[in-house]
Amino acid sequence: MPMKDPLARRWRKGGPGELRRPDDGADLSLLEDALQGLPRNEMSVIPALQRAQEVYGYLPESVLAQIADELRVPWARVYGVATFYAQFHLKPRGRHIVLVCRGTACHVGGASEILGALEERLGIREGETTPDLMFTLETVACLGACALAPVIVVGGRYYGHLDEAKTLAVIDMYTDGNAAPEVQP
Ligand code: FES
Repeated sequence: MPMKDPLARRWRKGGPGELRRPDDGADLSLLEDALQGLPRNEMSVIPALQRAQEVYGYLPESVLAQIADELRVPWARVYGVATFYAQFHLKPRGRHIVLVCRGTACHVGGASEILGALEERLGIREGETTPDLMFTLETVACLGACALAPVIVVGGRYYGHLDEAKTLAVIDMYTDGNAAPEVQP
């Protein structure tokens, strides 16, 4: 079956029938422990990906290939699962994940302006990670803390009743190596 996917093409570059493993520098020896105890079959794809992501912080291509080999599952199945579920990330993520709520209450409270200020300060767009891997900026539909709108979450901590200046002050604290005090939802 022809493989149209760019990843598939890269893996096939070595020549007809020859699978060339992507070399992205991931230490594949770390997978050995992570996959221990998992049955070698398709049922283990999701737990294997979850464990691998815990180890690497994301899922490098070489890790996907190794998981496919280890579980004796076609690479396309592993890649398909990794790209289907939002919980899996195929690109490196930042040390601090910044979630901006775009739900109704937060939108009314100025979420768009907050997102714009964050994009400008961090120099990235929604869905991207800063080159120094410090921050990843994402949006969500509702953080379940509407009474605090507008709300962002940084590294699992909630910050509410924000405006642009307060938001940037929170980010500055993380940039300086401190976590700003959390506001309980
Ligand atoms: S709408 Fe933002 S927390 Fe619910």
